[in-house]
This record gives sequence, structure tokens and C-alpha cells, in this order.
Amino acid sequence: MIYNIKKGLHGEITVPGDKSISHRGVMLGAIASGTTEINNFLRGADCLSTIACFSKMGVEIEGTHDRILVHGNGLRGLKTPRQILDCGNSGTTTRLISGILSAQNFTSTMVGDSSLKSRPMRRIIKPLSQMGANITSVLGNDCVPLRISGCQLTGIHYASPVASAQVKSSILLAGLYADGETSVTEPALSRNHTELMLSAFGAKVSSSGTTASVQGVKELYGQKIDVPGDISSAAYFLAAALIVPGSEVVLRNVGINHTRDGMLTVCKQMGANLTYENLKISGEPCADIVVRHSELQGVTIEGEIIPRLIDELPMIAVLACFAKGTTVIRDAAELKVKESNRIRVIVDNLSAMGADIEETDDGMIIRGGKPLHGAVIDSHNDHRIAMSFSIAALNCEGETTITRKDCVNISYPRFYIDLKKLIRD
Ligand code: S3P
Repeated sequence: MIYNIKKGLHGEITVPGDKSISHRGVMLGAIASGTTEINNFLRGADCLSTIACFSKMGVEIEGTHDRILVHGNGLRGLKTPRQILDCGNSGTTTRLISGILSAQNFTSTMVGDSSLKSRPMRRIIKPLSQMGANITSVLGNDCVPLRISGCQLTGIHYASPVASAQVKSSILLAGLYADGETSVTEPALSRNHTELMLSAFGAKVSSSGTTASVQGVKELYGQKIDVPGDISSAAYFLAAALIVPGSEVVLRNVGINHTRDGMLTVCKQMGANLTYENLKISGEPCADIVVRHSELQGVTIEGEIIPRLIDELPMIAVLACFAKGTTVIRDAAELKVKESNRIRVIVDNLSAMGADIEETDDGMIIRGGKPLHGAVIDSHNDHRIAMSFSIAALNCEGETTITRKDCVNISYPRFYIDLKKLIRD
């Protein structure tokens, strides 16, 4: 049950470490020489799936809480996994590790949960096969289970039909092992954490416009990584403070990499009162974000900004219900192939709360300003749906119940604890 609060949210929150960066730290640490130390590692179920996969390939990973040490096996030191690699709910684990597995001297099989089993893998099978990989969908449906028999790869120049960091990263990771240069051009720039981290680990990476390139390498070198707070997790409290009257919240140490900060841009366009403090701009940029309750206006969200806020669109759709005027979200068909069909699930759940919302082929149209009421929300076991609707519930008349609400463990195990803290403070 989610409470409806009238006094506003107050206080400060340090959101957990960035999920994308935590995954990549383990992956690069595992194939580097030497030890990689990861601080503020996200101990969410998805990143634990990545750890479990590399442990099965003989990589020693130790640590407590949010500090972990990855004792790398070197670029060619992964061992034949004795068991199937279980990627759980994590598309990032599956797609990125596929790039690495394509170049090993063993055969491996990757599986996942019921959500992962319906997520499209053709998008990585195609380019990795062009590089020479032996990668097949065991059931022939372009989904997991995937069977990969590693071999020598050749660099390619790939024009990706989708702006996807998972696709781009899968190809770049395979490119580490390939002869010559490997490059990926996307229709719009997706998150660039792989490129930044590869460069820190000693790979030759370059980026120009929406093209990222990497050269084959002989060795990567273990690093110390300080993971910034996940902007996708901060998004929930940012939105909560904006919609609940009387709120003022400080979000500490949030990653504001330009390829991830689309929600901040949109919130400002909507009229949000947000300011940055303690800005750090080297490496992965981060800042404290101060946010206060604001009167919001509807906006149009389309084009190149979409990959910069793709995971925040469920939360933005909720925000749009509390804004004056119409919000149009376009060019976001990728939402249909996330942990759930997020266009359908957002529209169904916001409709259940009384919103004026319409589904379109590649997004939705929301006419804001209609008061929402409590409802039974089907999370579809999708963490971002559960969290976004927990925030919607704060500003609704009546009670809201969220089904399978523990799915927040995928990316934010402490979510309900942190939310309660802001309500009490
Ligand atoms: C991610 C990339 C995005 C994002 C996902 C994490 C990553 O997926 O939605 O939550 O870490 O590379 P796509 O690459 O499918 O857009």
C-alpha cells in the first residue's frame, strides 16, 4: 500500500550506484589484468547476475556492501563455464556479455527469466555474426537461450538501426578481440559509459558524432572505479518532489553524464525548479541536485533526446499527468521491448488512475491536469513501473496497491526505505 501524503517530501537521499556503470565495471574488471576496485557498486539483482556469470567463468569477485574487488583473469583468461549462464532479468548482462563470449575459446549458453525470454536478441546476433561469431538462439525465436561458440572475430563498421547502448557495447566489447577496427554508428547517441570506461582501462576508443570505434587490444588494465549515483533511480524522488506540494529534496552525488541527463532537460522545459551543487565534471560527471515542488507545463519529447531518458519515460509520463496542457512522447517504440511493454503498461495503469492518456505507435499523448485516484497497479514485475507508480500514488486521492512490488530489487533494493525516509523527514 502506498500512502498519500499532504505535507511534502523533505530531506536528502544518496541514491544507489549507477546500474549501467556497475555492470560494465564487473565486465571490464573480469577481462582486465590486475584487480579492479569498484566503489558504490549497485547490489541490485541485475548486477548480481553479471557477477554470477563471471564467477562461473572463474573470475574471483569479493567484497562487502557496495565495495567490490574483481580479480581480473586477463583478456583471454575466462574459463569454460561448467553451468549455464543465468542472466536473470538483465538485458544488459545478456547483450554485453554476448560480445565477450563470442571471442572466447569455449561454448557457453545464456538463459534468463520469463521477461528476458521475450526480449529481442536479433539486434546483437546480427552484428556479432557479421564479425564471424557463432551465436544462435536455441529455440530459433531470436531470444534467449543463446548458445555462443567463441572464435576469432573480425572488425566491422556497423550502422545500427536502433539507438541502443546495449547493442553498441556488445559490438565494442567483441571489437576488443577482433582484428582491426570495430565501429558502430547509431541513429542517435546512446549512453557512452562503455566508451568512457574502455578508455580508462587502456583500450583505444574514439567517438565522433554518433559513431564509436575501438581497436583490437592485447590487454586491459584493472582500475579503481567510483560509481556515481544512478540518475534513473534519482528520477523517482526528483519527480516526487516536483509533484507533491511543499517538497524540497536534495539528491546527492547523481551521475549527470550528458547521454543520460535527458530527464533533467525535460523537467527544466516543463518548468521544474532544479539546481545543481557540488558539480564534478571529470570522468563520469556528477552533482547534487536540489529540487522543489513546481508548477509544470506539458512538453513534446521526441528525436535525439529519447535515448538520453529512455528509462525515465515511465516516470516522465506520470509527471505529465500533473502538468498543465498536453505532453506528447514520440520516437519511443523501444519502450515496447523493455522489461515489459512499457507503452502499454504505462497507458493501462495511468488510465486505471483516471489519467487522460492515449497510446500511440511510438509513444503516448497525455492531457495533464486531471486529478488521479488510487488504483490497483499491475507492475508486470517491471521495476521501473513499480517505482514510477509508487510516486504517482503519493499525489492521488485514495489508496494504491502495486502488484509484485518487490521487483524494485532489480535496480533499487532500498527504494521503499528511502521513500519512507523522505516522507518522515
Ligand atoms: C542500458 C541501455 C539501455 C537501457 C538499459 C541499460 C545499458 O537499453 O534501457 O536499462 O546499460 O547499456 P538499450 O540499449 O536497449 O536502449
